[in-house]
Amino acid sequence: MSYKPLSNEDDYPLDKDEGARTTPLEHFGSVDEDDELSDDTAKKVFVDEKDGGNGDHELSKSIGNVGPGFRIARYILTAMIFLTVAGLITGSIVLIITSPSCSPKLNWWQTSVIYQVYPQSFQDSGSGNTSGYGDLNGIRSRLDYLKDLGVEAIWLNPIYASPMVDNGYDVSDYRAINPRYGTMGDFHNLLSAVHQKNMRLLLDFVPNHTSDQHKWFQMCVANNSQHFCDYYVWRDSDSFGGPPNNWLSIFGGSAWTYVEAKDQYYLHQFYPEQPDLNYRNKNVKEEIKNILEYWLDMGIDGFRVDAVPFLLEDKEFRNESTNPDYNGTNPFDELIHNYTQNVLGVHAIVQEWRETVDCYSDSDDEKVFIGEVYSSVDTVMEYYGTKKDEFDFPFNFILIDTEAWNATAVREAIKEWWGALPKDAWSNWVLGNHDNPRIGTRVGLNLARALNMLLLTLPGTATSYYGDEIGMTNLEDLPVDGYDERDAERTPMQWNAEENAGFSNSTPWVPVVANYTTVNVEVQTNNNQSMLELYRMLVHLRKNEALKYARFNLLNTSENVIGYRRDKPDADNVAIVLINFANFAITEDISALEHVPKERKFRIAVSTWLNRTEIVDNAAVELGPFEGVVLLATL
Ligand code: GLC
Repeated sequence: MSYKPLSNEDDYPLDKDEGARTTPLEHFGSVDEDDELSDDTAKKVFVDEKDGGNGDHELSKSIGNVGPGFRIARYILTAMIFLTVAGLITGSIVLIITSPSCSPKLNWWQTSVIYQVYPQSFQDSGSGNTSGYGDLNGIRSRLDYLKDLGVEAIWLNPIYASPMVDNGYDVSDYRAINPRYGTMGDFHNLLSAVHQKNMRLLLDFVPNHTSDQHKWFQMCVANNSQHFCDYYVWRDSDSFGGPPNNWLSIFGGSAWTYVEAKDQYYLHQFYPEQPDLNYRNKNVKEEIKNILEYWLDMGIDGFRVDAVPFLLEDKEFRNESTNPDYNGTNPFDELIHNYTQNVLGVHAIVQEWRETVDCYSDSDDEKVFIGEVYSSVDTVMEYYGTKKDEFDFPFNFILIDTEAWNATAVREAIKEWWGALPKDAWSNWVLGNHDNPRIGTRVGLNLARALNMLLLTLPGTATSYYGDEIGMTNLEDLPVDGYDERDAERTPMQWNAEENAGFSNSTPWVPVVANYTTVNVEVQTNNNQSMLELYRMLVHLRKNEALKYARFNLLNTSENVIGYRRDKPDADNVAIVLINFANFAITEDISALEHVPKERKFRIAVSTWLNRTEIVDNAAVELGPFEGVVLLATL
């Protein structure tokens, strides 16, 4: 502490009343009652200064014994400080009240549509080593199409080296590209082309099992390496010489296959050629982590993680109990899979991977981590992680599982998912993928248009299966031999009406669906009322502030209509979506509905038949059969 001593005559304050200079001592006089510093305080300062040894005795007095000039200056100063503080407080309050409530910053994976590309069916450029199969250069040649469509992220089904027993979900080398799809150089070219277009590339990560051709498995069975045998789940036969327990494979039969050389069984929850990895072995965890890092180092933007619930099994290998609700259709459902799915410990594994992925994320360049979990809605929700430390989102398959395609059933499904979503968790919606019949086949093309509207206007990330934007359907007459029944929904992308639908110059690996002459990208690009045009408009409409955020209210609409409100937190941007699930026209009166803003007019931003753009008031909205509309409130 140091105060400048008053040492010079010129420094003495002028006494306002007397207009005469005073000596320091005369001037200071006695302490006023209203002086802010008490005697004690003054003394304290004095002592401090004295201790400082600076000879500031006079000054210390000046604090207690101020003259009128000083007093006035001090009053002015105090008043100024007071006014400044009061001004600042009032200013802040006014700012808080008048500034718009701020909308949360969204990550790219929250605002992008994810487009799923099945590599062997998208585009054959001729550069892979097998003709009739799509390849990486083919995908690269179609990026302009995807960019124009408005989708900003591409998820590729597995592209790794594989004997292709399960179309790539049987990986024999996680660090190599399947030559059928091209080379590592082709992959780098694809990745950088995607990034140049400001899009993202996600890979499929298949950690539950490897191929039986993977060197780890081969080192076990061919070389009898105990180290590598421990990478998998091996058990002795039961006391009757049969499989160790009653566990079933999703693809049929026992989940155990006997290997004579070892006189033991190994576990495979999918095909026998897909042995399950043993996550109770820390070496396996380390290997898999290194694989994640390998691709993250290369600059990919995230992963879709395959078959998550299956990662761990019961430590005691107990028999699963029979399912009292079994309906006789799929033998796999005969058992309740509580010892092979979602077993304690799976979440910890996912959390570790998430940590690894997070190391590569920064706020400007987030990685996305998505899980494939087919389980009950409550179980699926657990994969967000109690501390949001697992998946950014587990895929929402509720619209894939829906069987009754009427408004009531779909509304209930939406409610169920939305109601179970943990606080602050980001939602997502999916209509189709490579494991399920196409939406166009499940509901027919008229309703499929409306469902694309549903997918793209519900709150959260939308994931679309390639070809669903033009209404591709399943192959009805899939040859029986040599095909997986799911190949019916994995047919070549229908680009145009030329031979092989413009997919390949060679015979495609699976037949093209016969409707390709009319259901194709080229025809639909030239038709401004096509499903493709609808899809494109909806994707672009998602940029509207009303449709971006996680705000959503279901409307109490009539039985056959699903309606909801979307808006931005400041409530100026409001969208109302109405979808008629019936095959007849309906007039929906929205004027009295809760959540529909009164005294606002709406413009039809998009209708599923792309033939209306009129302004509607907030009363009766006419909806044609299977018609959906997105209404935007006019300001
Ligand atoms: C996932 C894939 C599916 C595959 C299975 C086994 O469910 O989506 O196609 O057969 O995992 O890897």
